[in-house]
Amino acid sequence: MNKNAIGVFDSGLGGLSAVKQMLNAMPNENIIYFGDTGRVPYGNRSTDTIRRYAMQDANFLLKNNVKMIVAACGTVSSVAPDLESQLGVPYTGVVLPTCHTALNESKNGKIGVIGTSATINSHSYKKRIEKKNPDFQVFEQDCPLFVPLVENGFIDRDDQIVRLVVEKYMSGLKNAGVDTVILGCTHYPILKDAIADFMGDDVLLIDSGKETALYTKKVLKENGLLNNSDTYGTAQFYVSDTPDNFEKIASLFLSKDMQGKVSRINIEEY
Ligand code: DGL
Repeated sequence: MNKNAIGVFDSGLGGLSAVKQMLNAMPNENIIYFGDTGRVPYGNRSTDTIRRYAMQDANFLLKNNVKMIVAACGTVSSVAPDLESQLGVPYTGVVLPTCHTALNESKNGKIGVIGTSATINSHSYKKRIEKKNPDFQVFEQDCPLFVPLVENGFIDRDDQIVRLVVEKYMSGLKNAGVDTVILGCTHYPILKDAIADFMGDDVLLIDSGKETALYTKKVLKENGLLNNSDTYGTAQFYVSDTPDNFEKIASLFLSKDMQGKVSRINIEEY
C-alpha cells in the first residue's frame, strides 16, 4: 500500500485520455498531471529535444514524490524508451500496453498505427508488433494536424474541419483493410468518435489512454503500490503555460469543471 501520487505527463492535453481512465479504474489513487503546454507539440521535434523535455517532465513529477511515472505520450514512449532506467520508480509509456491489446484483438492481422511524425518515424509500434508476431502486417500513418486540432478545441465529431482531416489521414488505412487501429498518440482518443465515424463499426480503435491506465494499475498491483484507502483520491494538474485554454478543454473532456484548478510551473527549472 502506498498513498503517494501517480505522476502522469504529456506534451499537453493528450495525457488526460489516460487520466480519465485512471479516475475510473483507480478512483482512490492520487494523481499529479503535468502537461507541457508551453512546448507542445513534441511530435515534430528532434529526438534530442524530446528526450530532454521528457526528462524535465519526469523530474518535476519525481520532485513531487510520485510512486510511478506514466509517460502518457506516444512520442516520448517511442523516442525515449530508455527513460525508465533513469527514474528509480516504476514506469510505463503507451507503446507496450497498446501493442499488447492490438496483438490480442486483431482478427485479420492487419493493424493500423497512427501517431505523431516522431512516433511514426521511430516505427516503435510496428517493430514491437512484428517482433511479437511476424505474420502481422502493420500500416503506419502520421497525423500531424491532430494534436493542434485537439489543443485548439476542435474535438467535436460533427465539426467539418475535424471530419476532413480525419478523412485525409485515415483513408489509406481504411483502404488497406485494417481491422484494428492503435491511436498511438494520447491526444487521438479525444478525437475517437470522429475517427470511429469514418472507419466504421468493424474497425476496433485501441485507446492509448485507456490501455495505459489499465496497465498502470497492473504495474502498481505487481509492485504492491496500489492505494487501498477507501476515500477518493485527488488529482492535481500543472502546465507550463497559461492554464486558461487547458482548463477549458479539460473541463469538456473530463466532464468536470477545471476552472481555477490548474497551476502553472516553470519546467525549465527541472
Ligand atoms: N500526446 C502526445 C503523444 O502521445 C502528443 C505529442 C505532441 O505533442 O506532438 O504523442
